[in-house]
Amino acid sequence: MERTLTHFETRTSDHDIEQIFLQRWSPRAFTGEAIPEADLLRIFEAARWAPSSYNSQPWRYLYARRDTPSWPTFLGLLGEFNQGWAKNAAVLIIAISKATMRPPGRDADIPSHSHSFDAGAAWSNLALQATSIGWHAHGMVGFDIPRTSVELHIPEGYRVEAAIAIGRLGDKSTLPEMLQAREAPSGRDPITAFAFEGAFPA
Ligand SMILES: Cc1cc2nc3c(=O)[nH]c(=O)nc-3n(C[C@H](O)[C@H](O)[C@H](O)COP(=O)(O)O)c2cc1C
Repeated sequence: MERTLTHFETRTSDHDIEQIFLQRWSPRAFTGEAIPEADLLRIFEAARWAPSSYNSQPWRYLYARRDTPSWPTFLGLLGEFNQGWAKNAAVLIIAISKATMRPPGRDADIPSHSHSFDAGAAWSNLALQATSIGWHAHGMVGFDIPRTSVELHIPEGYRVEAAIAIGRLGDKSTLPEMLQAREAPSGRDPITAFAFEGAFPA
């Protein structure tokens, strides 16, 4: 029987890796299905176990599930383009990092060199876990960061990193035509474009 390839089956890696890395992708067609709290907790649990400098765990998440009082506020922070598709997500998340940390044995916080790096590691865990339990996470920078800080009362010393939409994969025919064309597998540069033995290449 003829079968349409799913998105990840069209991706291939140059070297043998876990399939979850190819299965994770960033769709825009979501069904609008609500996410059970248990699934959301499993997704945050994966973020929880990310590595971080001095185990400082600088990631913070503010979130709104659809059809809750916070949802319109979170959706309204996104740019018009992102609102167009993220309105069908199950949950919208603002990922934040704490810019200072308390190293062991110190009695005061010091600036953290790696707070964004650490929060990025946690986002990756979160996205892979979402995929592994049948959801999809889509990162966004297209949102109003200054307004996010104000409307969500984010204190000084925290960096707003990104927004994330998580939803159940929908049919791409539900998207506007322009987005349907972009709902396609993305490839990657080869390893030789980003990993170099020794000093930075001239
Ligand atoms: C931090 C971050 C910000 C992003 N911002 C947006 C965005 O504002 N709007 C959007 O549609 N996609 C956004 N993306 C999705 C990327 O375009 C996507 O991850 C990239 O093209 C690779 O595709 P893949 O995630 O399907 O592998 C963002 C992704 C990340 C990680």
